[in-house]
Amino acid sequence: MNIPRTKPLPIFNFLFTSLLLFTSSVTADVKMRGIAIATVDPIATDAAVQALKDGGNAFDASVAAALTLGVVNGYNSGIGGGCFIVARKANGELFTINGRETAPEKAHRDMFIRDGQAQTKLSQTGALAIAVPGSLMAYSELCEKHGKLSFKSHLDNASSIALNGFKVPASFAQRVKGNFKQIQNYPASAKIFSDKNGGPIKAGSILIQKDLAKTYNEIAQHGIDWFYNGPFSKKTEEWMNKNGGIMKGTDFEKYHVTYPNPVKTTYREFTVVGMPPPSSGGTHVAQILNILEHFEIKDIDSDSPKFYHLITEAMKLAFADRAHWLGDPSSAKVPLGLVSKEYAKSLAKKIHPKKAGKVITHGTPPGSTEHFFNKHTTHFSCSDNEGNWVAITATINTSFGSKVIIPGTGVIMNNEMDDFSISPGTPNAFGLIGNEANAVAPGKRPLSSMSPTIVLKGHKPILSVGAAGGPTIISQTLLTLIHTLDHNLSIREALMKPRFHHQWQPNQIRIESTAGQSVIDSLKQMGHQIYIGGHGGATQAIGNLGKGLEAVHDPRLNGKAIVFPIQK
Ligand code: GLY
Repeated sequence: MNIPRTKPLPIFNFLFTSLLLFTSSVTADVKMRGIAIATVDPIATDAAVQALKDGGNAFDASVAAALTLGVVNGYNSGIGGGCFIVARKANGELFTINGRETAPEKAHRDMFIRDGQAQTKLSQTGALAIAVPGSLMAYSELCEKHGKLSFKSHLDNASSIALNGFKVPASFAQRVKGNFKQIQNYPASAKIFSDKNGGPIKAGSILIQKDLAKTYNEIAQHGIDWFYNGPFSKKTEEWMNKNGGIMKGTDFEKYHVTYPNPVKTTYREFTVVGMPPPSSGGTHVAQILNILEHFEIKDIDSDSPKFYHLITEAMKLAFADRAHWLGDPSSAKVPLGLVSKEYAKSLAKKIHPKKAGKVITHGTPPGSTEHFFNKHTTHFSCSDNEGNWVAITATINTSFGSKVIIPGTGVIMNNEMDDFSISPGTPNAFGLIGNEANAVAPGKRPLSSMSPTIVLKGHKPILSVGAAGGPTIISQTLLTLIHTLDHNLSIREALMKPRFHHQWQPNQIRIESTAGQSVIDSLKQMGHQIYIGGHGGATQAIGNLGKGLEAVHDPRLNGKAIVFPIQK
Protein backbone atom coordinates (compact mmCIF):
# COMPACT_ATOMS: atom_id res chain seq x y z
CA MET A 1 0.00 0.00 0.00
CA ASN A 2 1.41 3.35 -0.93
CA ILE A 3 0.60 5.64 1.97
CA PRO A 4 1.66 9.27 1.67
CA ARG A 5 4.26 10.38 4.26
CA THR A 6 1.55 12.35 5.94
CA LYS A 7 -1.70 14.00 5.03
CA PRO A 8 -0.72 16.59 2.42
CA LEU A 9 -1.76 20.17 2.90
CA PRO A 10 -4.49 20.87 0.36
CA ILE A 11 -2.75 23.42 -1.80
CA PHE A 12 0.76 22.07 -1.42
CA ASN A 13 0.41 18.46 -2.47
CA PHE A 14 2.08 19.14 -5.78
CA LEU A 15 5.23 20.42 -4.16
CA PHE A 16 8.45 18.63 -4.79
CA THR A 17 10.80 17.62 -2.03
CA SER A 18 13.85 19.55 -2.99
CA LEU A 19 14.51 23.27 -3.31
CA LEU A 20 11.34 25.06 -4.05
CA LEU A 21 10.75 28.65 -4.94
CA PHE A 22 7.17 29.81 -5.03
CA THR A 23 6.29 32.26 -7.68
CA SER A 24 3.80 35.06 -7.30
CA SER A 25 1.21 33.07 -9.22
CA VAL A 26 0.77 30.72 -6.28
CA THR A 27 0.95 33.32 -3.55
CA ALA A 28 -2.42 34.92 -3.75
CA ASP A 29 -2.67 34.84 0.04
CA VAL A 30 -1.35 38.24 1.12
CA LYS A 31 -0.62 37.17 4.68
CA MET A 32 1.86 34.57 3.44
CA ARG A 33 4.03 37.04 1.52
CA GLY A 34 7.57 37.40 2.78
CA ILE A 35 7.63 33.98 4.37
CA ALA A 36 10.69 31.80 3.99
CA ILE A 37 11.31 28.42 5.61
CA ALA A 38 14.07 25.86 5.21
CA THR A 39 14.29 22.56 7.09
CA VAL A 40 15.73 19.11 6.40
CA ASP A 41 12.33 17.45 6.05
CA PRO A 42 9.32 18.18 3.81
CA ILE A 43 6.84 17.21 6.54
CA ALA A 44 8.47 19.62 9.00
CA THR A 45 8.46 22.44 6.44
CA ASP A 46 4.80 21.74 5.68
CA ALA A 47 4.01 21.85 9.41
CA ALA A 48 5.69 25.26 9.62
CA VAL A 49 3.69 26.53 6.63
CA GLN A 50 0.50 25.25 8.20
CA ALA A 51 1.28 27.10 11.45
CA LEU A 52 1.60 30.33 9.46
CA LYS A 53 -1.63 29.63 7.59
CA ASP A 54 -3.30 29.05 10.96
CA GLY A 55 -2.39 32.61 11.94
CA GLY A 56 0.96 31.95 13.60
CA ASN A 57 4.16 33.88 13.10
CA ALA A 58 7.73 32.75 12.38
CA PHE A 59 8.17 31.69 16.01
CA ASP A 60 5.12 29.43 15.79
CA ALA A 61 6.31 28.08 12.46
CA SER A 62 9.70 27.22 13.87
CA VAL A 63 8.18 25.51 16.93
CA ALA A 64 5.88 23.51 14.64
CA ALA A 65 8.91 22.52 12.54
CA ALA A 66 10.96 21.64 15.63
CA LEU A 67 8.34 19.37 17.19
CA THR A 68 7.68 17.72 13.83
CA LEU A 69 11.39 17.14 13.22
CA GLY A 70 11.39 15.25 16.55
CA VAL A 71 8.91 12.86 14.92
CA VAL A 72 10.12 12.52 11.33
CA ASN A 73 13.83 13.20 11.85
CA GLY A 74 14.21 12.03 15.44
CA TYR A 75 17.71 10.66 14.90
CA ASN A 76 18.92 14.26 14.68
CA SER A 77 16.86 16.23 17.17
CA GLY A 78 13.88 16.06 19.47
CA ILE A 79 12.62 16.81 22.94
CA GLY A 80 15.18 14.37 24.35
CA GLY A 81 17.90 16.81 23.26
CA GLY A 82 18.82 20.47 23.29
CA CYS A 83 18.86 23.54 21.06
CA PHE A 84 19.97 27.11 20.62
CA ILE A 85 17.63 29.77 19.29
CA VAL A 86 18.74 33.09 17.82
CA ALA A 87 15.93 35.43 16.85
CA ARG A 88 15.11 38.89 15.67
CA LYS A 89 11.67 40.28 16.42
CA ALA A 90 9.73 42.50 14.07
CA ASN A 91 10.38 45.41 16.46
CA GLY A 92 14.13 44.95 16.00
CA GLU A 93 14.76 43.21 19.34
CA LEU A 94 17.40 40.48 19.19
CA PHE A 95 17.28 37.60 21.63
CA THR A 96 18.56 34.08 22.19
CA ILE A 97 17.27 31.08 24.09
CA ASN A 98 19.81 28.60 25.44
CA GLY A 99 18.09 25.22 25.59
CA ARG A 100 21.34 23.28 25.85
CA GLU A 101 21.25 20.10 27.92
CA THR A 102 22.88 20.10 31.37
CA ALA A 103 24.91 17.53 33.26
CA PRO A 104 23.02 15.91 36.14
CA GLU A 105 23.93 16.86 39.73
CA LYS A 106 25.74 13.61 40.27
CA ALA A 107 28.00 14.16 37.25
CA HIS A 108 31.64 14.78 38.00
CA ARG A 109 34.91 15.49 36.26
CA ASP A 110 36.15 11.90 36.14
CA MET A 111 32.86 10.10 35.60
CA PHE A 112 34.03 8.59 32.31
CA ILE A 113 37.46 7.46 33.56
CA ARG A 114 37.92 3.77 34.30
CA ASP A 115 41.30 2.40 35.40
CA GLY A 116 42.85 5.73 34.49
CA GLN A 117 41.53 5.64 30.91
CA ALA A 118 38.83 7.86 29.40
CA GLN A 119 35.99 5.65 28.13
CA THR A 120 34.26 7.36 25.23
CA LYS A 121 31.91 4.37 24.95
CA LEU A 122 30.34 5.53 28.21
CA SER A 123 30.01 9.16 27.13
CA GLN A 124 28.56 8.17 23.75
CA THR A 125 25.93 5.51 24.45
CA GLY A 126 23.73 4.44 27.33
CA ALA A 127 22.67 5.94 30.63
CA LEU A 128 25.74 8.00 31.50
CA ALA A 129 25.86 9.66 28.08
CA ILE A 130 22.55 11.42 28.67
CA ALA A 131 22.33 15.03 29.83
CA VAL A 132 19.11 16.68 31.02
CA PRO A 133 17.18 17.71 27.87
CA GLY A 134 16.42 21.37 27.19
CA SER A 135 14.69 21.62 23.80
CA LEU A 136 11.15 21.20 25.06
CA MET A 137 11.44 24.09 27.50
CA ALA A 138 13.14 26.27 24.87
CA TYR A 139 10.39 25.63 22.30
CA SER A 140 7.71 26.24 24.91
CA GLU A 141 9.35 29.56 25.89
CA LEU A 142 9.67 30.64 22.25
CA CYS A 143 6.04 29.87 21.59
CA GLU A 144 4.55 31.22 24.83
CA LYS A 145 6.57 34.45 24.86
CA HIS A 146 6.82 35.27 21.16
CA GLY A 147 4.34 33.14 19.20
CA LYS A 148 0.66 33.67 18.50
CA LEU A 149 -0.65 30.11 18.67
CA SER A 150 -0.80 27.84 21.71
CA PHE A 151 2.04 25.44 22.40
CA LYS A 152 -0.66 22.82 22.86
CA SER A 153 -1.78 23.20 19.24
CA HIS A 154 1.76 22.58 17.98
CA LEU A 155 2.13 19.50 20.18
CA ASP A 156 -1.26 18.16 19.07
CA ASN A 157 -0.33 18.53 15.39
CA ALA A 158 3.04 16.84 15.82
CA SER A 159 1.40 14.12 17.89
CA SER A 160 -0.98 13.35 14.99
CA ILE A 161 1.97 12.93 12.65
CA ALA A 162 3.57 10.49 15.11
CA LEU A 163 0.32 8.57 15.42
CA ASN A 164 -0.61 8.47 11.73
CA GLY A 165 2.92 7.57 10.76
CA PHE A 166 5.09 8.65 7.88
CA LYS A 167 6.89 6.92 5.08
CA VAL A 168 10.48 6.27 6.11
CA PRO A 169 12.86 8.04 3.71
CA ALA A 170 15.99 6.22 2.51
CA SER A 171 18.18 8.56 4.56
CA PHE A 172 16.29 7.64 7.75
CA ALA A 173 16.53 3.89 7.00
CA GLN A 174 20.27 4.25 6.38
CA ARG A 175 20.78 5.89 9.76
CA VAL A 176 18.81 3.14 11.50
CA LYS A 177 20.85 0.49 9.70
CA GLY A 178 24.14 2.18 10.55
CA ASN A 179 23.28 2.39 14.26
CA PHE A 180 21.19 -0.76 14.59
CA LYS A 181 23.69 -2.81 16.58
CA GLN A 182 23.76 -0.22 19.34
CA ILE A 183 20.04 0.50 19.10
CA GLN A 184 19.39 -3.20 19.77
CA ASN A 185 21.00 -2.87 23.21
CA TYR A 186 17.96 -0.86 24.29
CA PRO A 187 14.70 -2.82 23.90
CA ALA A 188 12.42 0.24 23.82
CA SER A 189 14.53 1.73 21.02
CA ALA A 190 14.84 -1.56 19.14
CA LYS A 191 11.06 -2.05 19.22
CA ILE A 192 10.44 1.25 17.44
CA PHE A 193 13.16 1.01 14.81
CA SER A 194 12.85 -2.71 13.91
CA ASP A 195 10.72 -4.25 11.20
CA LYS A 196 8.51 -7.25 11.84
CA ASN A 197 11.43 -9.63 11.24
CA GLY A 198 13.56 -7.90 13.85
CA GLY A 199 15.80 -6.19 11.29
CA PRO A 200 16.26 -2.43 10.86
CA ILE A 201 13.17 -0.64 9.59
CA LYS A 202 13.28 -0.28 5.79
CA ALA A 203 12.89 2.71 3.52
CA GLY A 204 9.32 3.08 2.31
CA SER A 205 7.75 1.44 5.34
CA ILE A 206 5.42 3.41 7.59
CA LEU A 207 6.81 4.40 10.96
CA ILE A 208 4.14 4.91 13.60
CA GLN A 209 5.34 6.18 17.00
CA LYS A 210 2.46 5.67 19.42
CA ASP A 211 4.51 6.28 22.56
CA LEU A 212 5.91 9.53 21.24
CA ALA A 213 2.42 10.61 20.16
CA LYS A 214 1.20 9.92 23.70
CA THR A 215 4.09 11.81 25.25
CA TYR A 216 3.34 14.86 23.05
CA ASN A 217 -0.35 14.53 23.99
CA GLU A 218 0.36 14.36 27.70
CA ILE A 219 2.57 17.46 27.49
CA ALA A 220 -0.15 19.21 25.45
CA GLN A 221 -2.68 18.40 28.15
CA HIS A 222 -0.62 18.93 31.30
CA GLY A 223 2.08 21.37 30.23
CA ILE A 224 5.83 20.89 30.24
CA ASP A 225 5.73 20.04 33.96
CA TRP A 226 4.59 16.60 32.83
CA PHE A 227 8.09 16.25 31.41
CA TYR A 228 10.23 18.26 33.85
CA ASN A 229 8.43 17.57 37.09
CA GLY A 230 6.10 14.66 36.55
CA PRO A 231 5.71 11.25 34.92
CA PHE A 232 8.50 11.67 32.35
CA SER A 233 11.21 12.63 34.82
CA LYS A 234 9.99 9.95 37.24
CA LYS A 235 10.15 7.25 34.56
CA THR A 236 13.61 8.45 33.57
CA GLU A 237 14.86 8.23 37.16
CA GLU A 238 13.44 4.70 37.49
CA TRP A 239 15.14 3.63 34.24
CA MET A 240 18.41 5.27 35.30
CA ASN A 241 18.37 3.43 38.64
CA LYS A 242 18.06 0.10 36.86
CA ASN A 243 20.58 0.86 34.14
CA GLY A 244 23.59 2.37 35.88
CA GLY A 245 22.57 6.00 35.33
CA ILE A 246 22.89 8.94 37.71
CA MET A 247 20.10 11.21 36.51
CA LYS A 248 17.36 12.04 39.02
CA GLY A 249 13.93 13.58 38.79
CA THR A 250 15.37 16.58 40.63
CA ASP A 251 17.79 17.17 37.71
CA PHE A 252 14.75 17.74 35.50
CA GLU A 253 13.11 19.96 38.13
CA LYS A 254 16.21 22.16 38.21
CA TYR A 255 16.47 22.49 34.45
CA HIS A 256 16.02 26.01 33.15
CA VAL A 257 16.66 27.76 29.87
CA THR A 258 18.76 30.93 29.84
CA TYR A 259 18.60 34.06 27.71
CA PRO A 260 22.18 35.17 27.12
CA ASN A 261 22.90 38.26 25.07
CA PRO A 262 23.75 37.32 21.51
CA VAL A 263 27.36 37.61 20.30
CA LYS A 264 27.43 40.48 17.82
CA THR A 265 30.23 41.44 15.53
CA THR A 266 30.44 43.73 12.57
CA TYR A 267 31.77 42.34 9.34
CA ARG A 268 32.18 45.02 6.70
CA GLU A 269 28.78 46.74 6.57
CA PHE A 270 26.99 43.78 8.18
CA THR A 271 26.18 42.84 11.76
CA VAL A 272 26.50 39.12 12.45
CA VAL A 273 24.42 37.91 15.38
CA GLY A 274 25.18 34.51 16.92
CA MET A 275 24.87 32.32 19.98
CA PRO A 276 27.27 32.92 22.89
CA PRO A 277 28.81 30.12 25.03
CA PRO A 278 28.05 27.32 25.76
CA SER A 279 27.87 27.50 21.99
CA SER A 280 31.32 27.96 20.52
CA GLY A 281 29.67 28.79 17.20
CA GLY A 282 28.78 32.45 17.68
CA THR A 283 32.16 33.21 19.22
CA HIS A 284 34.31 31.53 16.60
CA VAL A 285 32.29 32.56 13.56
CA ALA A 286 32.76 36.14 14.83
CA GLN A 287 36.44 35.57 15.61
CA ILE A 288 37.21 34.07 12.19
CA LEU A 289 35.36 36.86 10.39
CA ASN A 290 37.31 39.40 12.45
CA ILE A 291 40.58 37.75 11.39
CA LEU A 292 39.51 37.54 7.74
CA GLU A 293 38.64 41.25 7.66
CA HIS A 294 42.40 41.78 7.39
CA PHE A 295 42.61 39.93 4.06
CA GLU A 296 39.93 41.55 1.87
CA ILE A 297 38.39 38.13 1.23
CA LYS A 298 35.84 39.68 -1.09
CA ASP A 299 38.60 40.36 -3.64
CA ILE A 300 40.00 36.82 -3.58
CA ASP A 301 38.67 34.26 -6.06
CA SER A 302 36.69 31.71 -4.06
CA ASP A 303 38.02 28.89 -6.25
CA SER A 304 41.66 29.83 -5.69
CA PRO A 305 44.06 28.01 -3.30
CA LYS A 306 44.65 31.38 -1.58
CA PHE A 307 40.98 31.55 -0.53
CA TYR A 308 41.11 28.05 0.96
CA HIS A 309 44.48 28.69 2.61
CA LEU A 310 43.59 31.96 4.36
CA ILE A 311 40.27 30.72 5.69
CA THR A 312 41.88 27.45 6.85
CA GLU A 313 44.59 29.34 8.74
CA ALA A 314 41.96 31.49 10.47
CA MET A 315 39.94 28.36 11.37
CA LYS A 316 43.03 26.71 12.85
CA LEU A 317 43.74 29.66 15.15
CA ALA A 318 40.13 29.85 16.27
CA PHE A 319 39.80 26.11 16.95
CA ALA A 320 43.02 26.13 19.02
CA ASP A 321 41.38 28.83 21.15
CA ARG A 322 38.16 26.82 21.27
CA ALA A 323 39.96 23.80 22.71
CA HIS A 324 41.51 25.92 25.47
CA TRP A 325 39.08 28.66 26.40
CA LEU A 326 35.58 27.53 25.58
CA GLY A 327 33.12 25.99 28.00
CA ASP A 328 29.87 26.78 29.76
CA PRO A 329 30.27 30.31 31.13
CA SER A 330 28.43 29.20 34.28
CA SER A 331 31.71 27.61 35.36
CA ALA A 332 34.39 28.47 32.78
CA LYS A 333 35.88 31.91 32.28
CA VAL A 334 35.46 32.45 28.55
CA PRO A 335 37.25 35.67 27.59
CA LEU A 336 35.16 38.27 25.81
CA GLY A 337 38.40 39.30 24.11
CA LEU A 338 38.11 36.28 21.80
CA VAL A 339 35.79 38.36 19.63
CA SER A 340 37.70 41.62 19.91
CA LYS A 341 38.97 43.28 16.74
CA GLU A 342 42.29 43.97 18.42
CA TYR A 343 42.88 40.26 19.17
CA ALA A 344 41.81 39.28 15.65
CA LYS A 345 44.39 41.71 14.25
CA SER A 346 47.14 40.07 16.30
CA LEU A 347 46.05 36.62 15.07
CA ALA A 348 45.83 37.79 11.46
CA LYS A 349 49.49 38.81 11.67
CA LYS A 350 50.40 35.18 12.39
CA ILE A 351 49.03 34.03 9.04
CA HIS A 352 51.57 33.54 6.28
CA PRO A 353 50.00 34.26 2.89
CA LYS A 354 51.46 31.16 1.25
CA LYS A 355 52.54 28.72 3.94
CA ALA A 356 50.58 26.55 6.35
CA GLY A 357 51.40 27.81 9.84
CA LYS A 358 52.14 25.64 12.86
CA VAL A 359 49.62 26.45 15.56
CA ILE A 360 51.20 24.92 18.64
CA THR A 361 48.68 26.18 21.14
CA HIS A 362 45.90 28.67 21.82
CA GLY A 363 46.37 32.45 21.90
CA THR A 364 45.73 34.83 24.79
CA PRO A 365 42.95 37.31 24.06
CA PRO A 366 42.90 40.68 25.80
CA GLY A 367 41.21 40.74 29.20
CA SER A 368 41.54 36.97 29.44
CA THR A 369 41.73 37.23 33.21
CA GLU A 370 39.04 39.91 33.65
CA HIS A 371 36.28 40.06 31.06
CA PHE A 372 34.18 37.02 30.39
CA PHE A 373 31.02 35.92 28.61
CA ASN A 374 28.03 35.63 30.90
CA LYS A 375 27.25 32.74 30.91
CA HIS A 376 23.97 14.95 14.31
CA THR A 377 21.85 17.88 14.75
CA THR A 378 19.62 19.90 12.51
CA HIS A 379 19.26 23.52 11.59
CA PHE A 380 16.15 25.33 10.41
CA SER A 381 15.40 28.93 9.61
CA CYS A 382 12.16 30.81 9.27
CA SER A 383 10.92 34.34 8.63
CA ASP A 384 7.47 35.86 8.36
CA ASN A 385 5.85 38.86 6.77
CA GLU A 386 5.91 40.86 10.04
CA GLY A 387 9.72 40.88 10.13
CA ASN A 388 10.29 38.12 12.68
CA TRP A 389 13.32 35.99 11.84
CA VAL A 390 14.47 32.82 13.59
CA ALA A 391 17.52 30.55 13.39
CA ILE A 392 17.34 27.33 15.42
CA THR A 393 19.89 24.56 15.64
CA ALA A 394 18.72 21.53 17.60
CA THR A 395 20.39 18.25 18.43
CA ILE A 396 20.48 15.02 20.36
CA ASN A 397 24.18 14.93 19.39
CA THR A 398 25.24 11.95 17.24
CA SER A 399 22.67 9.85 15.32
CA PHE A 400 20.03 8.51 17.75
CA GLY A 401 21.94 10.18 20.61
CA SER A 402 22.56 7.76 23.47
CA LYS A 403 20.41 5.19 21.57
CA VAL A 404 18.23 5.09 24.68
CA ILE A 405 14.48 5.52 24.59
CA ILE A 406 13.04 5.58 28.10
CA PRO A 407 10.46 2.76 27.83
CA GLY A 408 6.92 3.92 27.14
CA THR A 409 7.90 7.48 26.16
CA GLY A 410 9.12 7.19 22.57
CA VAL A 411 11.64 9.96 23.29
CA ILE A 412 15.19 9.37 22.02
CA MET A 413 17.58 10.62 24.69
CA ASN A 414 20.66 12.64 23.75
CA ASN A 415 24.32 11.70 24.31
CA GLU A 416 25.38 15.28 24.86
CA MET A 417 27.70 14.34 27.77
CA ASP A 418 30.18 13.43 25.00
CA ASP A 419 30.41 17.11 24.08
CA PHE A 420 32.21 17.68 27.39
CA SER A 421 35.93 17.15 27.42
CA ILE A 422 35.78 13.86 29.35
CA SER A 423 39.53 14.05 29.94
CA PRO A 424 42.02 16.64 28.63
CA GLY A 425 43.24 15.62 25.20
CA THR A 426 40.72 12.76 24.69
CA PRO A 427 38.89 13.37 21.41
CA ASN A 428 35.10 13.16 21.44
CA ALA A 429 32.95 11.64 18.68
CA PHE A 430 33.93 14.57 16.42
CA GLY A 431 37.67 14.32 17.15
CA LEU A 432 37.46 17.54 19.18
CA ILE A 433 39.66 17.91 22.19
CA GLY A 434 39.10 20.24 25.07
CA ASN A 435 40.40 21.36 28.36
CA GLU A 436 39.43 22.29 31.91
CA ALA A 437 36.99 24.94 30.65
CA ASN A 438 34.83 22.16 29.22
CA ALA A 439 35.36 19.50 31.90
CA VAL A 440 32.28 17.70 33.25
CA ALA A 441 30.67 19.32 36.29
CA PRO A 442 27.20 19.05 37.82
CA GLY A 443 24.61 21.36 36.28
CA LYS A 444 27.10 22.46 33.61
CA ARG A 445 26.27 22.59 29.89
CA PRO A 446 28.60 20.86 27.43
CA LEU A 447 30.29 23.02 24.83
CA SER A 448 28.58 23.05 21.46
CA SER A 449 29.49 24.05 17.92
CA MET A 450 25.91 24.89 16.97
CA SER A 451 25.91 28.28 15.28
CA PRO A 452 22.44 29.64 14.54
CA THR A 453 23.19 33.04 13.00
CA ILE A 454 21.24 36.05 11.80
CA VAL A 455 22.84 38.78 9.69
CA LEU A 456 21.62 42.35 9.62
CA LYS A 457 22.35 45.09 7.15
CA GLY A 458 21.66 48.26 9.05
CA HIS A 459 18.70 47.12 11.11
CA LYS A 460 17.27 44.90 8.40
CA PRO A 461 17.61 41.11 8.68
CA ILE A 462 19.04 39.70 5.45
CA LEU A 463 20.14 36.16 6.32
CA SER A 464 19.31 33.39 8.80
CA VAL A 465 21.67 30.45 8.60
CA GLY A 466 23.07 27.49 10.51
CA ALA A 467 24.12 23.92 9.99
CA ALA A 468 24.44 20.39 11.29
CA GLY A 469 27.67 18.42 11.41
CA GLY A 470 29.53 18.76 14.71
CA PRO A 471 32.44 21.21 14.54
CA THR A 472 31.98 21.62 10.77
CA ILE A 473 28.88 23.62 11.72
CA ILE A 474 31.17 26.56 12.42
CA SER A 475 32.96 26.22 9.06
CA GLN A 476 29.76 25.69 7.10
CA THR A 477 28.14 28.75 8.65
CA LEU A 478 31.26 30.82 8.07
CA LEU A 479 31.56 29.75 4.41
CA THR A 480 27.92 30.59 3.76
CA LEU A 481 28.52 34.08 5.20
CA ILE A 482 31.64 34.63 3.10
CA HIS A 483 30.14 33.34 -0.13
CA THR A 484 27.00 35.44 0.23
CA LEU A 485 28.29 38.60 1.93
CA ASP A 486 31.71 38.86 0.29
CA HIS A 487 31.15 37.20 -3.06
CA ASN A 488 27.51 38.11 -3.62
CA LEU A 489 26.47 34.54 -4.38
CA SER A 490 22.85 33.58 -3.94
CA ILE A 491 22.21 31.29 -0.95
CA ARG A 492 21.72 28.36 -3.31
CA GLU A 493 25.03 29.01 -5.04
CA ALA A 494 26.74 29.45 -1.68
CA LEU A 495 25.48 26.11 -0.37
CA MET A 496 26.72 24.34 -3.49
CA LYS A 497 30.30 25.58 -3.12
CA PRO A 498 32.87 23.01 -1.93
CA ARG A 499 33.16 22.86 1.86
CA PHE A 500 36.32 22.64 3.88
CA HIS A 501 37.08 22.55 7.57
CA HIS A 502 40.08 22.73 9.88
CA GLN A 503 39.64 22.24 13.63
CA TRP A 504 43.31 22.63 14.67
CA GLN A 505 43.52 19.04 15.91
CA PRO A 506 43.78 16.79 13.97
CA ASN A 507 46.04 18.97 11.86
CA GLN A 508 44.30 18.49 8.52
CA ILE A 509 41.91 20.22 6.17
CA ARG A 510 38.81 18.17 5.57
CA ILE A 511 37.80 19.16 2.09
CA GLU A 512 35.14 18.11 -0.40
CA SER A 513 36.61 16.70 -3.60
CA THR A 514 34.63 19.25 -5.60
CA ALA A 515 37.30 21.78 -4.59
CA GLY A 516 39.27 20.26 -7.47
CA GLN A 517 42.63 18.54 -7.71
CA SER A 518 44.60 21.65 -8.57
CA VAL A 519 43.41 23.49 -5.42
CA ILE A 520 44.17 20.39 -3.34
CA ASP A 521 47.66 20.05 -4.86
CA SER A 522 48.41 23.74 -4.22
CA LEU A 523 47.29 23.42 -0.60
CA LYS A 524 49.59 20.42 -0.17
CA GLN A 525 52.46 22.46 -1.59
CA MET A 526 51.77 25.15 1.00
CA GLY A 527 52.26 22.50 3.69
CA HIS A 528 48.65 21.61 4.48
CA GLN A 529 47.67 18.06 5.26
CA ILE A 530 44.55 17.12 3.38
CA TYR A 531 41.74 14.69 4.05
CA ILE A 532 39.42 14.47 1.07
CA GLY A 533 35.88 13.50 1.91
CA GLY A 534 34.00 13.23 5.13
CA HIS A 535 30.54 14.57 5.08
CA GLY A 536 30.09 18.16 4.09
CA GLY A 537 27.36 18.68 6.67
CA ALA A 538 23.93 20.18 6.16
CA THR A 539 23.31 23.90 5.98
CA GLN A 540 19.88 25.47 5.81
CA ALA A 541 19.42 29.17 5.17
CA ILE A 542 16.89 31.80 4.26
CA GLY A 543 17.63 35.33 3.23
CA ASN A 544 16.96 38.42 1.29
CA LEU A 545 20.31 39.47 -0.12
CA GLY A 546 18.97 42.03 -2.51
CA LYS A 547 17.83 39.61 -5.22
CA GLY A 548 14.58 38.59 -3.59
CA LEU A 549 13.67 36.26 -0.78
CA GLU A 550 15.36 32.85 -0.84
CA ALA A 551 15.02 29.67 1.22
CA VAL A 552 17.39 26.79 0.62
CA HIS A 553 17.99 23.42 2.22
CA ASP A 554 21.33 21.74 1.77
CA PRO A 555 21.56 20.42 -1.80
CA ARG A 556 23.61 17.43 -0.53
CA LEU A 557 20.67 16.04 1.44
CA ASN A 558 16.90 15.84 1.73
CA GLY A 559 14.88 18.76 2.88
CA LYS A 560 12.36 21.30 1.78
CA ALA A 561 12.53 25.04 1.48
CA ILE A 562 9.67 27.37 0.67
CA VAL A 563 9.48 31.02 -0.22
CA PHE A 564 6.41 33.14 -0.65
CA PRO A 565 7.91 36.16 -2.40
CA ILE A 566 7.28 39.66 -1.21
CA GLN A 567 5.11 41.46 -3.74
CA LYS A 568 5.25 45.15 -4.29
N1 GLY B 1 26.29 18.03 19.56
C1 GLY B 1 26.95 18.81 18.61
C2 GLY B 1 27.17 20.21 19.07
O1 GLY B 1 26.41 20.70 19.88
O2 GLY B 1 28.11 20.82 18.65
